[in-house]
Amino acid sequence: DQTSTITIAGSTYTRDDCTNVPGSIAAAASRRIHHLPTNPVGIFRRLVEKHFRTCHTNVFRTFDDIHPVVTPKANFDTLLFPSDHPSRGPSDTYYVNRDLILRTHSSAHQAQLLAQGNTDFLLTADVYRRDEIDRSHYPAFHQMEGVRTFARDELPPLPPLSLGPSIELIDETSAGSSKNPIQSVHTKEESALVAADLKRTLNGMLLDIFGPLLGVGKESVGGPSQLKIRWVDAYFPFTAPSYEVEVWYQGKWLEVLGSGVTRQEILDGAGHSDRVGWAFGLGIERLAMVLFRIPDIRLFWSGDDRFLSQFEEGKVTEFKAYSKYPACYKDVSFWLPSAIRDDKSAKSTFVENDFMEIVRDEAGDLVEDVAMVDEFTNPTTNRTSRCYRINYRSMDRNLTNDEINVLHRAIEKRAEVDLGVEVR
Ligand code: PHE
Repeated sequence: DQTSTITIAGSTYTRDDCTNVPGSIAAAASRRIHHLPTNPVGIFRRLVEKHFRTCHTNVFRTFDDIHPVVTPKANFDTLLFPSDHPSRGPSDTYYVNRDLILRTHSSAHQAQLLAQGNTDFLLTADVYRRDEIDRSHYPAFHQMEGVRTFARDELPPLPPLSLGPSIELIDETSAGSSKNPIQSVHTKEESALVAADLKRTLNGMLLDIFGPLLGVGKESVGGPSQLKIRWVDAYFPFTAPSYEVEVWYQGKWLEVLGSGVTRQEILDGAGHSDRVGWAFGLGIERLAMVLFRIPDIRLFWSGDDRFLSQFEEGKVTEFKAYSKYPACYKDVSFWLPSAIRDDKSAKSTFVENDFMEIVRDEAGDLVEDVAMVDEFTNPTTNRTSRCYRINYRSMDRNLTNDEINVLHRAIEKRAEVDLGVEVR
């Protein structure tokens, strides 16, 4: 019975009242674009694997085919997320049913792979998050997880890494400060050595992959001469200290990876209490956008030959935009469902990501972005109205006003029926 089950990447699950995986996401889970040798996602992850194979010979074991449906325990508990952490909720996470979710990050497999005896590994995974809509966010994307550990009494000496002039490196981190503390079970020295190895490894990887594209003179042929990378303090429940790496692209800092010194509880729990280590999780699409100069994250999912035919296995080439089709925006304004009557402080039950998903479900990849442009609360009725601007644009053709109107009406209808808003 089709209505009581859902099939995700070849496995069938029983639906229940927690199921919130739309058909479009189940379909994305079957695409396996990281296995396509000529999709930039597939090209990029092979470049990273090759870098680790050649520059860290026989260190990292690679995985790329672990099924995306996991338990909340694997995705959150084994990584020490508190039980009330917001990312566990159905407004951020896709629930297959009460007991299973689509992994929200590649870190979901850290504990399991460590417990199986893997001390150093690279893992490529498709991951899923209910999120906002814009040029660098898509609810299905890919991450590469890297995990490296060392025997506590054999920490690596540190040969310096020279990055050369093609990378401008800004390090704003402050490990050991109150903002980014080290773990009390680690000595200052060992924590610093692990963190230094992490930074060295990732900077070396970025230099290796981006370096050939950069250099003085390249700007005259349309390329950048320098890659700007910034390391900043971050917070993750499963690392301390924690860092994020950002890359300068399209006039802003784009967050491309999270990382840090692995919390000792995780290594202890996996039977490696004699070791210390680091982990990172990088967003493949974000880095591939910079590397291949791809302006919009939706393009990775395009079946259009004008996109796919541009790329070759193992090669980095600059994406050539094929005609720009015009965008067309339409606004939708609605009253949010009111909170429990007579309680002026109660919040509305409206969840923005539910609205985002309706937009995506009805209009699919024809939506470029959705932004709230206005919000106000009527002081006498205490009702709140919001206006969202939906920007429609196809990557491969002109959209007619009539067809957008049909989509826009459908979104308004669904918002009224499913979310209880009142369109104004
Ligand atoms: N899993 C984190 C994320 O998706 C990234 C991360 C991986 C951070 C490993 C630290 C260590 O945001």
